[in-house]
Amino acid sequence: MSKQPNIIAPSILSADFARLGEEVVNVLEAGADWIHFDVMDNHFVPNLTVGPMVCESLRKNNISCPIDVHLMVQPVDDLIKMFADSGATSITFHPEASEDPAKSLELIENLGCQPGLVLNPDISLNVLEPYLEDIYMVLLMSVFPGFGGQKFIPEVLDKVKNLRQQIDEKNLEVRLEIDGGVNSENISDISSAGADTFVAGSAIFNNKNYSNAIKNLRDNFY
Ligand code: DX5
Ligand code: ZN
Repeated sequence: MSKQPNIIAPSILSADFARLGEEVVNVLEAGADWIHFDVMDNHFVPNLTVGPMVCESLRKNNISCPIDVHLMVQPVDDLIKMFADSGATSITFHPEASEDPAKSLELIENLGCQPGLVLNPDISLNVLEPYLEDIYMVLLMSVFPGFGGQKFIPEVLDKVKNLRQQIDEKNLEVRLEIDGGVNSENISDISSAGADTFVAGSAIFNNKNYSNAIKNLRDNFY
């Protein structure tokens, strides 16, 4: 299985929350493929963002694109249920936040969403071993989660390469997503290392022209 088509997923963390619906419409019109929905609980990570009601509200306002829910919460199972009911497309969580990651992944799948795992920069790829064949996506963090606008940690590129190799060797259809500090300068290296799904918050929402920002990212794919 070769690499899947590239996806750009703007993270709403850097959007203007007071105008969230409008921001999401604008970024989709500017060419975004998915919306990346960062959920923080001020416990698993030191920040607090939005919950399932906001996801549901986007759906009620005719947002039909894939919504990629990144759970930075502990525990995970109750919120998995709530986000599945609220229109999430994919749901990823950090395995250390779940008492039984296999069960949480199965829960996501049974609720009709696409399951994935997220690894912080200091968590080894070995953690994925029991799950890799059964999941839709692996999200590799290239910053420590909690805040937008941090600097990309370049050491994560080796991890991306290593995971790409494992996915290809096993002929799997797993998406390889990267999140944190992605911009038009480093996206070429990240994409040549083997990522196919790119979260970008500040690189898009801090640009006055979202179309230009997304085009700058796409123009620099490897
Ligand atoms: C970090 C979040 C990211 C972040 C990305 O905790 O998971 O999605 O908002 O933002 P940038 O692209 O600004 O690093
Ligand atoms: Zn995220």
